[in-house]
Amino acid sequence: MKEYHVAVVGATGAVGNVMVKVLEQRNFPVRRLTLLASERSIGKTLEFKGESLPVEVLNDGSFAGIDIGLFSAGGAVSQRYAPVAAASGCVVIDNTSAFRMDPEVPLVVPEVNPEQIGMHRAKGIIANPNCSTIQMVVVLKPIHDAAVIKRVIVSTYQSVSGTGKEAIEELILQTRALLSGGKTEAKVYPHRIAFNCLPHIDVFLENGYSKEEMKMIHETRKILNDQSIRVTATTVRVPVFYGHSESVNIETERKITVEETREILARAPGVTVVDSIKENKYPLPIDAEGKDDTFVGRIREDESIENGINMWIVSDNLRKGAALNAVQIAEVLARDYL
Ligand code: A2P
Repeated sequence: MKEYHVAVVGATGAVGNVMVKVLEQRNFPVRRLTLLASERSIGKTLEFKGESLPVEVLNDGSFAGIDIGLFSAGGAVSQRYAPVAAASGCVVIDNTSAFRMDPEVPLVVPEVNPEQIGMHRAKGIIANPNCSTIQMVVVLKPIHDAAVIKRVIVSTYQSVSGTGKEAIEELILQTRALLSGGKTEAKVYPHRIAFNCLPHIDVFLENGYSKEEMKMIHETRKILNDQSIRVTATTVRVPVFYGHSESVNIETERKITVEETREILARAPGVTVVDSIKENKYPLPIDAEGKDDTFVGRIREDESIENGINMWIVSDNLRKGAALNAVQIAEVLARDYL
């Protein structure tokens, strides 16, 4: 079996760390692993397959001989270095929003549109979608195939790990301070996140929506390859460490019942139905943490319209929402294209 020289850019970050773990857990055919981060990480090491690997400082020369680069060091780093990596023959799988809407860059969720991966040849870059979008489209795709989704209304409850390791630290420090009668400081978010909810993810745009909300709209249409789907989103940061939750309402062209929706989702790849209200069973972020699947429950008819379904969708944002999806893309890439 062919093996690859893989680089993780942003290896010391919340997502980068999980990328290294997922490469090991899934036994991705790694010949050599290069860990890249900023100067701040000089001297750090990370474990991979029982070996302690040094973190190196990212620079223009970092990509010589590297086959696959998993990028998760922020949009600015991807803008600057993904083209450099691609020019040296490395295929970039980029977890940032830098290239997602570029018509020459495929935006891929392997359960939904794996056929798009071949489009990487145009720029040498494949984009990993936004975390909230990935878990939603994994569930929407089989329903769309069966009944044609016309409209989606989504509200998210997103964990702080989606912002990065400094946000995880901020929630710990603020919670600790509040429980011991101390003062809190908000550095990563504009307001206190502990014991609070912030209807504000990423920057606000001219139209009054946040960039995160608009990402969910544009990316859903691109991944499902259907510009006619109407999507509206409200994205909210909540004081949860790992796992994003979503309340999703869909309107379909053809009526589907709750039972049919459950059957469709029970067969869907990467999806687990957890839906038994009699036993108080529904998806929870604490149960999704560390798991690969996207969990769906609270499936019920929207009685306010003819053809509507409500659902609650939860997934580990660092895994399916980021690192796992990127490694799954790498698996298809390695199997079919490299
Ligand atoms: P470092 O740890 O050296 O700062 P998170 O998303 O959890 O905040 O992590 C961001 C990741 O991106 C970290 O690994 C961080 O490295 C890395 N990173 C941020 N800026 C740069 C940069 N300019 N060059 C290389 N890596 C960077």
